[in-house]
Amino acid sequence: MTMMGIDIGGSGIKGAPVDLEHGQLAIDRHRIPTPQPSKPDAVASVVAEIVQHFEWQGPIGCTFPAVIKDGVARTAANVHKTWIGTNVREIVQAKTGQPVLVLNDADAAALAEMRYGIGKDRQGTVILLTFGTGIGSAIFVDGTLVPNTEFGHLQVRGKDAEHRASDRVRDDKDLSWKKWARRVNEFLCHLEVLFTPDLFIFGGGISKKFDKYASYLEAQAEILPAQLLNEAGIVGAALAADQALSRSRPEVA
Ligand code: BGC
Repeated sequence: MTMMGIDIGGSGIKGAPVDLEHGQLAIDRHRIPTPQPSKPDAVASVVAEIVQHFEWQGPIGCTFPAVIKDGVARTAANVHKTWIGTNVREIVQAKTGQPVLVLNDADAAALAEMRYGIGKDRQGTVILLTFGTGIGSAIFVDGTLVPNTEFGHLQVRGKDAEHRASDRVRDDKDLSWKKWARRVNEFLCHLEVLFTPDLFIFGGGISKKFDKYASYLEAQAEILPAQLLNEAGIVGAALAADQALSRSRPEVA
């Protein structure tokens, strides 16, 4: 089974048909920089360009870096504020002419990681965090996702956690891995007080550099790097679209 996955991010929009049996891209992904300003019409046009690139016809799973409720963006921390209240599903459907399912980017990455990656068959409470421009989050309890958790906006020392400990902050402030990990540890400590997770999975751009900071991390829960790296969002978007579709398929007697 192949399904189209699109990952909308603050700096790039990328997509590819996904082989859902193996949780891998079926063809090399196509990436286009996110238009600036990242307003709805311009972003949806880029999504349509990617879909056309693959001459894809059929359902599309699409991530978005915000709270998504019934296809509508409720927030817009790292994309243009005009997205707030916009029906992302409808605007992308109108541009592509295909049925679309939209979900939060970190939720998508986590779905992929729990199905095909390091979280496979993990029970208990698992929290996946993506460290990039912001901090995305997803929480699974015995394999079930609670969507739109937004832990990156928890307050740490009077600031959103993502304004202290995202990968972008590490870069902008030229923090050493040790100093950045200290900030991350404060964030993990908050999450442990609230949820007592069994496992943290570190995703996003920093997952492939895990060796550089793993020894500085401190938490009672196990901490592991994500395995799907840059492709997790695309794979998770396709997976979510497939799951939504099979829910709406009539049962065959
Ligand atoms: C947004 C989240 C998103 C995360 C990663 C945060 O600023 O509020 O919805 O998952 O960035 O892109």
